[in-house]
Amino acid sequence: MGKSEKHSEMLPGLSLASRTVHADGHIASHRAIAPAMHVSTTFRYSENPDELSGVGIGEFENLDHNAPRDSHVYSRESAPNTTRLEAVLSSILGGPSVTYASGLAAFHAMLVQLNPKRIAIGEGYHGCHGVIDVLSRLSGLKKLPLDCDLSELEAGDVIHIETPLNPTGEARNLAYYAERARKVGAYLTVDATFGPPPLQDPFAQGADVVMHSGTKYFGGHSDLLCGVVTVTPDEKGQKLFEGLKHDRLMLGSVMGSLEGWLGLRSLRTLELRVMRQSETATKLVAWLASELRDPSSLVSATVEKVQHASVQPEASDENGWLRKQMPGGWGPVFALWMKDADMARSLPSKLHLFQHATSLGGVESLLEWRAMSDPHVDKRLMRVSIGVEGFEDLKADITQGLEAFRG
Ligand SMILES: Cc1ncc(COP(=O)(O)O)c(C=O)c1O
Repeated sequence: MGKSEKHSEMLPGLSLASRTVHADGHIASHRAIAPAMHVSTTFRYSENPDELSGVGIGEFENLDHNAPRDSHVYSRESAPNTTRLEAVLSSILGGPSVTYASGLAAFHAMLVQLNPKRIAIGEGYHGCHGVIDVLSRLSGLKKLPLDCDLSELEAGDVIHIETPLNPTGEARNLAYYAERARKVGAYLTVDATFGPPPLQDPFAQGADVVMHSGTKYFGGHSDLLCGVVTVTPDEKGQKLFEGLKHDRLMLGSVMGSLEGWLGLRSLRTLELRVMRQSETATKLVAWLASELRDPSSLVSATVEKVQHASVQPEASDENGWLRKQMPGGWGPVFALWMKDADMARSLPSKLHLFQHATSLGGVESLLEWRAMSDPHVDKRLMRVSIGVEGFEDLKADITQGLEAFRG
């Protein structure tokens, strides 16, 4: 048995950390340890005329990329770097996974494929609401409140949950919404961007389709755009997977090859990064929350409140849904509400380690006055994305930043 066959046989039993390093081993086309970067858009056909039979309509996307190994046709359909990235993603996310040019392209692809007449959706990333607006214009898709009367939903509609939520980092109960979806035959779709592996597994809570902005934790270094849609590893999921691949080929919303290569490189350290980011964020939130309980503290004088799944009321129930849903740890993003909008606007200018920028999930900590990129939020809100720096350094940076308000 060759090394690559042994690899794929071992995979199901391996830990997340091992799968991020080895799950694409069976399609590595070279003996090089580090993956090669292929940027070609087009690939030579076989030189043997007996192997050339032409391709029927609809068959293009079903060609076998491993016969011979790493065989592709045209990069709008598939390419070596993103195929390896998808092999790792499919292994760690628990189902066949398709990558896209961005998280919003993935959300769009998911809705185009499911084609619901109605979508029940609550708070969360404003860009996803923008995609729904576009689809409403094109197809009449109707947006309903997340907790709408169930009689307003029909089979084939979508209940969409983002958890943890952008920008607060608070979580929503997936098992509860899965049950609502089952009652009416709707799909439960989950945007799990803020809770990548190993923090949570939305399929274990009843999700039908899971999406991520891979720009965040999968990329992890603020240098690539990526979206991912993952379906269940069963017959229903397989049909959706084939439909997603077909639509992507027609719509052209593929990741670039350079991004696919960067994504694969980043996934190797996913667990290390996310565990560190989650632990540091949780410690910072606990510190801020305890300072807020002391009315004479510096934090109490400048900060109104802190929001994060670890301090939402349900987190105190050791056997409740929230701890069951996030067994791997809390998300690395939380929200800070300053006492007033002026303080919120100027806090970033007083910090040295935290960068004032949008996005999240990278190795560098960011703190964004959220009004800069979301027109709908309260002007006191700061979104904090924790990177991989040391806890004490980040705590000291926040402390000196808040001290600056004392003049
Ligand atoms: C929860 C969530 N979903 C989707 C997106 C969109 O991702 P992208 O920027 O990769 O299109 C974002 C971006 O911030 C996000 O935070």
